Amino acid sequence: MNLKDRIPWQIKLIAKIILARVPVKYNFWKHLSLFSHGPMNHPEYAYGVFKKHFDRVGLSRKDNFVALELGPGDSLFSALIAYAFGAAETYLVDAGSFAVRDLRAYRLMAEFLTEKGLPTLDVSTFDTLEGLLEACSGHYFTSGLSSLKAIPDSSVDFIWSNAVLEHVRKREFAPMMCELRRIIAENGVCSHTIDLRDHLGYALNNLRFSHALWESEFMVRSGIYTNRIRYSEMLNIFKQAGFDAQVVNKQSWDTLPTPVNKFNKEFRRLPEEELKIWEFDVVLNPSAPL
Ligand SMILES: C[S@@+](CC[C@H](N)C(=O)[O-])C[C@H]1O[C@@H](n2cnc3c(N)ncnc32)[C@H](O)[C@@H]1O
Repeated sequence: MNLKDRIPWQIKLIAKIILARVPVKYNFWKHLSLFSHGPMNHPEYAYGVFKKHFDRVGLSRKDNFVALELGPGDSLFSALIAYAFGAAETYLVDAGSFAVRDLRAYRLMAEFLTEKGLPTLDVSTFDTLEGLLEACSGHYFTSGLSSLKAIPDSSVDFIWSNAVLEHVRKREFAPMMCELRRIIAENGVCSHTIDLRDHLGYALNNLRFSHALWESEFMVRSGIYTNRIRYSEMLNIFKQAGFDAQVVNKQSWDTLPTPVNKFNKEFRRLPEEELKIWEFDVVLNPSAPL
């Protein structure tokens, strides 16, 4: 256990609430490993995430597909990776502009793909990230749900996300699923990995709070927000939005990491087996024409 893991969740919560209000740029916190959207600026990680979802949906290089990653986080490496796997176009939709802009990072990603024997672009021929993105038909949009609304109906073949759906604001979750359903092609497929743990101590401390407090702007802006939508409820929302859901991986704790009697009453009544699920992977196919 490292030092960070030993800090009690209450201290982490208070520290994050305070630090989130200090007016410094995201890169500063990322550098100190205090706030981060994940390791997407590491080629091997970004490649592993793409490959996991791509292999699962059964597409191939010849399919000339349009791809969309929801919540790419700290890099736009997925545009280069999807290009290497034959994507004709790739949308990268996030809720803010968090991706590294330094082309040296993209050069490392391209070298990684070359070592794997995959086709890539010569990053040294581009002066800007925009130029590189254009060359691999990548589009980076940073307004979350509003950005999805600008994408044409039935135009995307493959949608994936990794540790993102739990961060979508609760009130936007069902509308976002409806947008994903609108833009996915009739034979298209989505693959998502969802982490249901809190982002304080990787337990369920987030379930201690009332809806009103947790969903307040104050908490949402503290860098610890997850929407707390539980497994069955999330599957139900996928269904309501017009998807058939197939769970392909489910991880559960043997015992609950946070005592049920500490939860807010909204969560206390849920079955223990449901609360024990801390991560799952789901493949979504459109269930019926809209
Ligand atoms: C924990 S990070 C995961 C990043 C990356 N997928 C990875 O595996 O490292 C969550 C990401 O979801 C994004 N996100 C949160 N709400 C979103 C929304 N409504 N639309 C799109 N992206 C969103 C965040 O900005 C962030 O980039």
